[in-house]
Amino acid sequence: MKKISLLCFVLLISFAAIAQNNLITNIPNRKTVTLNGKWQYIVDPYETGFYDYRYKELNEKNGGAYWNTDVPANKTALNEHSYTDKNMLQVPGDWNHQDPKFLYYEGTVWYKKSFDYKKPASGKVFLYFGAVNYRADVYLNGKKLGMHKGGFTPFNFEVPANLLKETNNFLVVKVDNKRFADEVPTLNTDWWNYGGITRDVKLVEVPENFIRDYFIQLKRASPGAAPAKNPEVEGWIKLNQKPVNGEKLTVEIPELKLKQQFTASDSITKIGFKLPKIQLWSPANPKLYRVIISSNQDKTEDKIGFRTIEASGKQVLLNGKPIFMRGISIHGEIPQEIRRAYSKADAMQLLGQARGLGCNMVRLAHYLHDETMERTADSLGILVWSEIPVYWTIDFGNKEVLNKAKAQLTEMITRDHNRASVIIWSVGNETPVSPTRTDFMHNLIIKAKELDQTRMVSAALEVNYSALKNLNEVNDPLGEFVDLVAFNEYLGWYGGLPDKCRTTNWATPYNKPLFISETGAGAKGGFHADSLTRFSEEFQEWYYKEQVAMLKRMPANFVGLSPWVLNDFRSPKRNNIYQEGWNRKGLIDDKGNKKKAYYVLKAYYEQKKQSAENQKKK
Ligand code: GCU
Repeated sequence: MKKISLLCFVLLISFAAIAQNNLITNIPNRKTVTLNGKWQYIVDPYETGFYDYRYKELNEKNGGAYWNTDVPANKTALNEHSYTDKNMLQVPGDWNHQDPKFLYYEGTVWYKKSFDYKKPASGKVFLYFGAVNYRADVYLNGKKLGMHKGGFTPFNFEVPANLLKETNNFLVVKVDNKRFADEVPTLNTDWWNYGGITRDVKLVEVPENFIRDYFIQLKRASPGAAPAKNPEVEGWIKLNQKPVNGEKLTVEIPELKLKQQFTASDSITKIGFKLPKIQLWSPANPKLYRVIISSNQDKTEDKIGFRTIEASGKQVLLNGKPIFMRGISIHGEIPQEIRRAYSKADAMQLLGQARGLGCNMVRLAHYLHDETMERTADSLGILVWSEIPVYWTIDFGNKEVLNKAKAQLTEMITRDHNRASVIIWSVGNETPVSPTRTDFMHNLIIKAKELDQTRMVSAALEVNYSALKNLNEVNDPLGEFVDLVAFNEYLGWYGGLPDKCRTTNWATPYNKPLFISETGAGAKGGFHADSLTRFSEEFQEWYYKEQVAMLKRMPANFVGLSPWVLNDFRSPKRNNIYQEGWNRKGLIDDKGNKKKAYYVLKAYYEQKKQSAENQKKK
């Protein structure tokens, strides 16, 4: 067999991985028709619309199925399901905050949308969902288009040309957010299991042969080096099918008077070219360039920032320079309205709050957030940690579960691999150490690197607390495979009191950058007492003071933190008189009021920012 270089081998592997998924990217800039708005619904806890009375899955011929029209064929016809305007839910939006009867509801809800549609003269039409929690079975005019699992990642189905009608199309989505041990996440999470069609629904119109996806990022310079004066772009363009002979693919960046043409080699074509002098993207200068990608039949444009990011020795280098990540962890929730976040306004609120705290980085926990978050972070200049919900005790020994996690990882990376703000792909959080688990997680890390060699891969690791030596070691075996050694610590909340920090030191056997992905304490906003009283703002404030003092003694490879958490958030696991179904570790309470601890972290970040600027001047 002809010897092929390692790079070609990696590219072949990654092309294979990339070829597999059929997600269409850059949806915000595609030709689309929205199906957002009011949808009729039927609540179906017994799944009567899906199974017969013997609990066998109904098939298309069976009129009783709820994906079928609810209009009886004639007055004697027996039909026992009706979609009416009496029962309407807003899409996008979780169902839990839209009607008190749904507050704790976990089960099936059938959504129905009727719509007229002017079919395009030519080309293809896809049905795109930003996210549906958790399982979605999708039917159009009585035909099944497909099924998707995973509550936080996008998916699309091609709509057969003859299925769409000019008028009165009947779109039905069976949404089921029940939790199961062999799903991702599994049964137990410390967040509210909001159900429903939680993000945008769109018809996407593309030419017969269209650009399904592309990857246009700066090639990493040699390890530890800054990007060259004329940095190199390395990537690929993916068509939905084999190109016609000699088909040309073009990448244009008008502002740089750059136009590069490539001959399409296959459905995926590797591209590479040098850029003239550019403004590199960074939090201080979140420069985005308009980039136009075109093929014979298709053209799509995007806003892309060019930067390099890498873990190099004990440091994290952005554009070749060491950075300290002043971060905060964020849930995809708007606490004031007790609902899932999904809009540009929501992104501006959450990222605006993070900026107000002095952050240059956010950990979007524990699942992929709405695309508006990453695109807004791109323009605001905020670094992003993006994660899939491999959370706590997943069924690590189950191959199917690994495939489900890999599918979500692929969808996450595919949707956002052109976002400059995204610097870390996280494959999970607080997963218990065992060889089976470490293999499982290692497989995900390999997959992430197949899909994207330009970003760091990490996970929130377990800590080996050693009471004796006051030296806590982050020696989780998974540390060997991640680029950034990240861990969660709650020293002084889950274990002892905050002054425990005074005698505690941290270390890791890995010659890698070290990051605290969570630390925090609970406080009921407005509850004031002495600092020894848990859930008082004074206790939380004390906690942060002790943490900040300890952080000043961290080892040299300490590169940042993302405390837990920006806002109080809903959790069914939190039920004392201060919590009332809320995790109260927010630095901002559910009404939007800043707690005392907020100012402790803000001052620390101000000081870090100052010293970084002084460093730069030297
Ligand atoms: C864990 C977990 C979070 C949780 C937090 C807490 O570390 O990762 O999801 O909310 O701790 O206990 O508040």
